[in-house]
Amino acid sequence: MSADAAYQTYILPEDDSRFAVDEIVPVDPFAGRLVDVEYDWDKVPVPSSLRELESRWYTRRNPLDRSGVWRFRELLPFATDEQIVTIGEGQTLLQRCDEIALDVGLKANGLHLQYEGMNPSGSFKDNGMTAASTHARIVGATSAACASTGNTSASLAIYSSATKLFRCFVFIGSGKIAYGKLSQALDYGAHTIQIEGDFDDALVRVREVCAELGIYLCNSVNPFRLEGQKAIMYRILEELDWEPPDWIVVPGGNLGNSSAFGKAFAELKHLGLVDRVPRLAVINAEGSNTLYDMYEHHGIRWNDGRPPLEDVDSYFETMNAEDRRASTIATAIEINRPVNLLKCLRALETMDGVVREVSDEEILDGKAMVGAHGFGCEPASGATIAGVRRLREEGVIAPSDRVACVLTGHELKDPTATVSYHSSPPNSPDDVLTARGVTRTPLANRPVVVPNDLNRLVEVVRGIG
Ligand code: F0G
Repeated sequence: MSADAAYQTYILPEDDSRFAVDEIVPVDPFAGRLVDVEYDWDKVPVPSSLRELESRWYTRRNPLDRSGVWRFRELLPFATDEQIVTIGEGQTLLQRCDEIALDVGLKANGLHLQYEGMNPSGSFKDNGMTAASTHARIVGATSAACASTGNTSASLAIYSSATKLFRCFVFIGSGKIAYGKLSQALDYGAHTIQIEGDFDDALVRVREVCAELGIYLCNSVNPFRLEGQKAIMYRILEELDWEPPDWIVVPGGNLGNSSAFGKAFAELKHLGLVDRVPRLAVINAEGSNTLYDMYEHHGIRWNDGRPPLEDVDSYFETMNAEDRRASTIATAIEINRPVNLLKCLRALETMDGVVREVSDEEILDGKAMVGAHGFGCEPASGATIAGVRRLREEGVIAPSDRVACVLTGHELKDPTATVSYHSSPPNSPDDVLTARGVTRTPLANRPVVVPNDLNRLVEVVRGIG
């Protein structure tokens, strides 16, 4: 791979500065100073068809071909093979799930679930972290840091512990982190710094600390992370025999995934490797709905590279003045100020997207359906099922559409949410007490309490059938 084909640039058109790949470029996400990785595609040996990349499966003894990110490396050509850092990320599955399809109003073969929880650290973040770790190696970083609602920290920590390329610091807010995720950061030896405040506060602080101490920042303002996350789309296409679905549905938090998906399709279209771009649905939690509110109620759009930055600014000023704080059972996406907002608006334009918000109850029911009919997922991922149901009811998604939901995190990340959903007493007003006061758990699979007595046990099991 020729690294000189890649460069970094600010995303808004009025600034055409270019930076080399081995530079750390300052960002200011709310002033349009987000950085993109761009390529001189003429200098890259782009495959003549996506099918060519599929043949890599036959040479998977090469770690780069085995990786579900780097076997598409011609589509993120910013590093040489020798620079790439991989721990075998991206061995994920796309499951066709007819039961959920029918339940949400699609045809039986209309719904696929992309299990990103199968990554080494149990979430989609590893797709991005392999690319960020590669870039950290390119710039010679010896320390890396992130703020996190849990999964980014688990991912950064595993790359640090498994590769020993850099030390790692993770900043988390107080209280709101699922135990599965916190346990990973601790177990992988990350220096874990808990600050008073929420994720948004932690992200502001980690950026300041990184700037002050020259630490490599691994949140999704880092454009190389998003390069890796493009691979989620390549793998979905690969599983669907390179035929794009009609819809990609993803939960929205800091909006890195949605931004990466838009960039992936913009590039594939530009390179003539797909002839059709799917539509994008980004699903917010009601209690953390900045994108939904801006997009649906304030008409904020990318506007062909001219987003209304003053409106975005004043939106955030009001949010600060009112001290509005995000609050949802899906702690992964409990974020008020999504740093990739502008890139996500761009992705929504590229992919003719829509944004919806769903309640915590709907999120937990969506998650319970993935558990009942698939391999399970964490709460944030359940938002996708709720989102599809809503968009079907509205007629935005047609009954015959083919939909791929990106299930971003593993079932075991947040066992507390799962167990409290399933063990809540029936018809009790305090069924499951969540951040938003969820009380309804229609899909609960309650454990049955039976005395330690053989006759009673036989009776109960027989009764269940
Ligand atoms: N789903 C899960 C399981 C996540 O962990 C996150 C983000 C998202 C969805 C949202 O993705 O930011 O690309 O829109 N988690 C971050 C973290 C913020 O710190 O682990 P996004």
